[in-house]
Amino acid sequence: MDKEIFVVCDRNVETLAAGIAEGRPMLPITADEDHKTMDTVVRICRWLMEQGADRSAVVYAVGGGVTTDLVGFAASIYKRGVRYVNYPTTLLCQVDAGIGGKTGVNLDGYKNMIGVTRFPAATRILPEALKTLPARELRSGAAELLKTFIIEDNGNYDRAVKVLSAPVTDFDALHKLVLEAAEVKYRIVEQDPFEEGPRRKLNLGHTYGHAIEWYQHTHGVSGPLSHGEAVAIGMIRAAEISERLGIAKAGLSSRLRADFSACGLPTELPCPEEELEQAIRKDKKVENGRIHFVLIRKIGKVIIEELDDLHKFTE
Ligand SMILES: NC(=O)c1ccc[n+]([C@@H]2O[C@H](COP(=O)([O-])OP(=O)(O)OC[C@H]3O[C@@H](n4cnc5c(N)ncnc54)[C@H](O)[C@@H]3O)[C@@H](O)[C@H]2O)c1
Ligand SMILES: [Zn+2]
Repeated sequence: MDKEIFVVCDRNVETLAAGIAEGRPMLPITADEDHKTMDTVVRICRWLMEQGADRSAVVYAVGGGVTTDLVGFAASIYKRGVRYVNYPTTLLCQVDAGIGGKTGVNLDGYKNMIGVTRFPAATRILPEALKTLPARELRSGAAELLKTFIIEDNGNYDRAVKVLSAPVTDFDALHKLVLEAAEVKYRIVEQDPFEEGPRRKLNLGHTYGHAIEWYQHTHGVSGPLSHGEAVAIGMIRAAEISERLGIAKAGLSSRLRADFSACGLPTELPCPEEELEQAIRKDKKVENGRIHFVLIRKIGKVIIEELDDLHKFTE
């Protein structure tokens, strides 16, 4: 057996990971946001060192986005960088986090403050992984899957709404859609690896989505919406604004509302719009005073608008 493969897995998918590891060295980790830290990265690096991993090592990451972000980052700094391969086990990770090379960890509770872009050598999507995924995690990923097909359709958006309508039972059909979505994301990232242009399309729904997450975090909201749920609401806001600006035909936001509800996703802002302004302004600072807001022309076609103020669109 080759000695250069090392497996790091989310301990919640240890059995699945053991099947992939086939006896190779394996490190199960606790993969939640509190453990998405430099400490865990150092732990992974130390383990690799103890295992005698050298520059030819390949590290497999088996888990959701927390695991692939952590392992990708550890692999990018261990011995100045070794290869890694993602085995995403959540829907969100299969269509989003596991592809695209963004890696990193949280710092002092701030999400993804430290990290680098380093592409995985491969992303291997396991259809069986999703069968054990809790319904809520499936829904969170569903929002990113739908987002991908709002950006690029080819008839997949309607198919996805059908397959994702709760409860999800057709995992073969879901797997086919996952492969299509992963392909779309891969192509967009390939065109613009460092997010200077078209890759920004993938942020559809995320201006409001991040603001909702920030609001919930700072207000200590109990049972907060997941990332995907917040993004679903953000996409509906984007559709409403697009309609108001005449960029989309009337009816787009109602259609998204109906489709997302069928998939068990929320559609209404969880707080008054004004409450989100501070967070949107914070995002704006990150972008050098400009917001890149993604608007929807129609299903399958989005445009990026560079704004200095979201107000003139929302008022
Ligand atoms: N790098 C990127 O481009 C990118 C993009 C989006 C999100 N992210 C990051 O990804 C993270 C979220 O990732 P996620 O949504 O994949 O979740 P996650 O890694 O937090 O996993 C969600 C939960 O599901 C469990 N789990 C994972 N696979 C399972 C399976 N097959 N069966 C049962 N349980 C399983 C996990 O243990 C965890 O409790 C965030 O930290 C986010 O910042 C990164
Ligand atoms: Zn997202």
